[in-house]
Amino acid sequence: MDTQLQDGFGRTIDYLRLSVTDRCDFRCVYCMAEDMTFLPRQQVLALEELERVARIFVGLGVKKIRLTGGEPLVRKGIVGLCERIAGLSGLRELVMTSNGSQLGKLARPLAKAGLKRLNISLDSLDPERFRAITRTGDLRQVLAGIDAAREAGFERIKLNCVVMKGRNADEVPALVDYAVANGLDISFIEEMPLGAVGRDRGESFCSSDEVRALIAERHALIDSAEQSGGPARYVRLLEHPQTRVGFISPHSHNFCATCNRLRLTVEGRLLLCLGHENSIDLRGLLRRHPTSDTPIIDAIHGALQRKPLRHEFSAAGEVQVLRFMNASGG
Ligand code: 5AD
Ligand code: SF4
Repeated sequence: MDTQLQDGFGRTIDYLRLSVTDRCDFRCVYCMAEDMTFLPRQQVLALEELERVARIFVGLGVKKIRLTGGEPLVRKGIVGLCERIAGLSGLRELVMTSNGSQLGKLARPLAKAGLKRLNISLDSLDPERFRAITRTGDLRQVLAGIDAAREAGFERIKLNCVVMKGRNADEVPALVDYAVANGLDISFIEEMPLGAVGRDRGESFCSSDEVRALIAERHALIDSAEQSGGPARYVRLLEHPQTRVGFISPHSHNFCATCNRLRLTVEGRLLLCLGHENSIDLRGLLRRHPTSDTPIIDAIHGALQRKPLRHEFSAAGEVQVLRFMNASGG
């Protein structure tokens, strides 16, 4: 193995989020504008390029890869890609973030391909609200997808819920109950100011402390020191200890000190931090050096010296980063 990746602040980097498409069958209000233009195919990494970067990063000590989008399951050839990445020696786990819409048909093939875990977005249990938040999504199809994922035997399926006042904050307790009843974990996420989505995010902002208080009205909570190698803080429910409830709070709690991750956008830009625009163009290097990995490895090591110490999102929710979330790798 080449030397284990470390950034300029001595943080070990062993987690890569890899975006495999900017497309999605949903248009969630916190993620996209209503009318989106997607990238032309030539600008998107080919499946072979995605596999190659995964192999390079695993060679550099990355232990966990998360496939993200857009919606990763709308990318053609995704199951085969999972199979090839899951087979890389040195990788501990291949996981995915999905909106769940395609899991009815793909959960089983994905499990067979070696995908270990799934995070599935679920912002509401009310069909009309679900439609309003996702603009195009069908709640029934997603719930069926979650069932299919459970039946396919995925370990620790986690729901992700972006909490917005006036849209779904009042459903926090119902979503926790749904997670408990189905043996799932659930994380509540503060909305991040990525991309101009055409809404005032400050107005609906709901802090993790408020979400926690809503849950505490119904459940006794036990703080948990558990870490998933990510930015979430966890609690357990006294009465239902098998369910983990997470809080991802980019605004109210800064978690950058232990950041262990990089993101690769679907265009092959290596993002050093979600909250900064600086990045390097790995796609250009991959295409200029089809047979030698050395220039790419050198560029990755060099870029890591410039990984920022922390992001700087402000609570007012104004857009500081112009990239949309679907182009950022979740
Ligand atoms: N803020 C917070 N989370 C977001 N996601 C997408 N856009 C945002 C945003 N602006 C997250 C959601 C979704 C996952 C794919 O990305 O949790 O479930
Ligand atoms: Fe699609 Fe996920 Fe963005 Fe929603 S949050 S539009 S499901 S990529």
